[in-house]
Amino acid sequence: MNRNLYKYILVGLCLVALFSCKHGEGEYHGVTERIEAESKNYHGTPISSEKYLEGLETIEISEDGHTFLIPDRKGQIKSYACTECHSKPLAQMQSKDLKKAHWDIKLNHANSNTMNCVTCHNPDNMDELKSLTGNTIDFNNSYNLCSQCHTKQFEDWKGGAHGKRIGGWAPPRASMTCVNCHNPHKPHFESRWPARFNTEKVKERE
Ligand code: HEC
Ligand code: HEC
Ligand code: HEC
Ligand code: HEC
Repeated sequence: MNRNLYKYILVGLCLVALFSCKHGEGEYHGVTERIEAESKNYHGTPISSEKYLEGLETIEISEDGHTFLIPDRKGQIKSYACTECHSKPLAQMQSKDLKKAHWDIKLNHANSNTMNCVTCHNPDNMDELKSLTGNTIDFNNSYNLCSQCHTKQFEDWKGGAHGKRIGGWAPPRASMTCVNCHNPHKPHFESRWPARFNTEKVKERE
């Protein structure tokens, strides 16, 4: 007999050993069957990210089939509600002699041909933002304001590729919203070096 035949017989035996079913205790036909059988009596809690979101005020949004939570903003904005002061038209509130009420806000976003305060804020009702076509946008949904001009980042964000998830990977999904990371008045991040441990400094101090 030639050596190849032995080889085939050996391989054949191995295959038989591999696929033969031993219906002994704790033996299953496959992984799925094993999981199903072993989880039959499991009544533990399903995994969830909820406990990581405790204490965080969130709202649920739904955009093109993506439903997820984002942090509430209105509770975070110091000068909200705006209408506590903005009870009359801007022109009546502004005066050359007065110090700017929002002196701490310097717009450094798009150039001034493209954008000024009322591109985003609604002078008829300061408690709401407004779209380029004049529709109102809730402060909690300010991503809808950004998405008008930054379509690409908005698309990525919806899918979870731009921005950051809060909590764990288990549902419910919660993600930071644009203004959690970008200041709408000066959204650009300065370039910076990666943080590193300076071994030389440690040596100098010794
Ligand atoms: C404590 C009172 C006060 C609150 C609260 C307040 N504002 Fe004002 N705001 C003013 C006054 C007064 C002016 C007009 C004088 C000026 O332009 O500085 C003004 C002006 C503005 C202007 C026009 C600025 C310019 O340079 O043309 C915008 C836009 C504005 N406010 C937005 C807001 C928004 C949005 C909020 C809420 C998130 C808000 N304000 C809350 C007092 C307030
Ligand atoms: C690109 C859009 C955009 C422009 C332009 C813009 N804002 Fe805002 N502004 C926002 C958004 C969005 C928020 C809410 C941010 C948040 O959720 O923290 C905000 C918040 C504010 C607040 C509340 C901030 C606080 O912490 O109390 C004030 C006041 C304000 N804007 C005034 C102004 C003034 C004055 C100008 C013009 C000099 C201006 N904004 C221009 C989008 C804009
Ligand atoms: C009316 C159009 C418009 C709106 C609304 C708008 N942006 Fe912008 N944004 C621009 C333009 C124009 C620039 C400058 C050109 C550029 O860098 O793409 C810019 C620049 C930026 C940049 C800086 C890019 C860099 O240089 O690093 C960020 C980040 C940004 N915007 C975020 C936001 C966020 C967040 C919002 C919503 C609160 C917003 N934008 C709303 C038009 C807009
Ligand atoms: C978790 C924080 C975070 C969130 C949330 C976030 N961004 Fe960004 N974004 C960043 C970082 C980090 C960069 C890169 C900055 C750099 O490279 O200088 C960036 C860059 C950008 C830029 C500049 C262009 C680019 O891709 O480099 C724009 C515009 C922008 N983001 C818009 C948005 C908009 C619109 C949203 C909401 C739909 C959003 N971002 C949500 C962190 C965030």
